[in-house]
Amino acid sequence: MSRPSVLRTTTAKQAKSTATAVPASAVNVIPKQGEHLFDHDGVKAVIQFAQHNGQWIAEYRFRFRCGAFHAGTIPLTINSEQHANLQNALHDAACRMVQAMATATNGHRLNKRQQKAFDALTVWADQFKAAPTTVQSKPAPQSKRFLDLFSGVGGFHLAMKKTGAVCAGSVELDTSARKTYAENFPGDYVTCDDIRKAVASMFGKVDIVCGGFPCQSFSQAGDGEGFDHKDKGALFFETARLIGDLAPESFILENVEALGSHDGGKTLDTILDILTDLGYAVQTCVLNSGEFGFLANMDADTARDLREHGGHRPL
Ligand SMILES: C[S@@+](CC[C@H](N)C(=O)[O-])C[C@H]1O[C@@H](n2cnc3c(N)ncnc32)[C@H](O)[C@@H]1O
Repeated sequence: MSRPSVLRTTTAKQAKSTATAVPASAVNVIPKQGEHLFDHDGVKAVIQFAQHNGQWIAEYRFRFRCGAFHAGTIPLTINSEQHANLQNALHDAACRMVQAMATATNGHRLNKRQQKAFDALTVWADQFKAAPTTVQSKPAPQSKRFLDLFSGVGGFHLAMKKTGAVCAGSVELDTSARKTYAENFPGDYVTCDDIRKAVASMFGKVDIVCGGFPCQSFSQAGDGEGFDHKDKGALFFETARLIGDLAPESFILENVEALGSHDGGKTLDTILDILTDLGYAVQTCVLNSGEFGFLANMDADTARDLREHGGHRPL
C-alpha cells in the first residue's frame, strides 16, 4: 500500500507537523480509562480514551522508531473534542493521527521500513469506524378517527375519507343502508345498528363525530313534533350522549334548514345549549348543496335557481 494522497478529514483539532506536547500543569488533564496500542516494526502508536461529563474523548500519539516522525495530542484534557459515543471519539482521534502522520512525513522520502510502518499504522487506524448516523424518522402523523352516526349510505364517510381520516365505526338502523354502506366502504370498523344501543367503548379513540340525526320531525315536510316524535325526536340526545362520552376534538352534525326555526327557535337553542354545556364552541350555518358540485348534475333552471337563491347563511 502506498501513502494515501487524500486523507480523511476531521472537524476536530488540526494536526500539526510536529508533536505539540501539552504541559499537564497548564490544562485539566483527564485520566485515561483505556487505550488502544499499536506496535509495529518501525512505529509505535497509542489512542487513549476517557469519559468526561457524559461525553467521550480520545487522543493519539505515534512515534516512528527512528525518531524521525512523531506527533500526538495526549494527554486527554477537558479541551479534548467531545463525542456522544466512544466509537466516534476513537474514529476522530484515529483520523487526526493519520492526518498528522501525513503532515509530518510530507516532503520526506520514506525508506521502505518507514513506508511499511506508515501503511500499517494507516490500516490499523482505519479500524476505528464512525458510528452509523441514525436518521430520526418523524412519526407519521396519525390519521384522525371519525365516528359515522346515522351513517346511511355513507355521505360523511366519503367526505371524511377524502381528508385522510379513518372510520372508527358506523351506526345505522336501516339494514339496506348498512348493506350498501358496507359495500361502499369495506373495512374493519365497528358497526352498530341502533344509536340507543351504542356506547363509547365500542369505538375506541374517536377524534371527530359526524352525524345527520333524523330530520323528519323538524322538517317543514314533517309533522313538526320535534323532540317529541316517538322514535326519531330524541335521537339528538343520543348523539349528545355519545359526544359527551367520547369527548372528540370536534363534531359535525347535519340536519334540515327548518331545524333553526322549529318551535320558534327553541329547538335549536336546546341543541346549542346541550352541545355548549359539553364544552364545545358550536357554529351553525345553512349550506347549499348546489355549491358543492351538485349543480353540474342538475337541469339548467334548477341550477340557476339555486345559484340565485342559494348560498349558505347563519341558521
Ligand atoms: C338523514 S339520514 C343520514 C344520511 C347519511 N348522512 C348519508 O349520507 O346517507 C338519517 C339516518 O339515520 C338512520 N337512523 C334512524 N334512526 C336511527 C337509530 N335509532 N339508530 C341509528 N340510525 C338511525 C336512518 O336510517 C337514516 O339513514
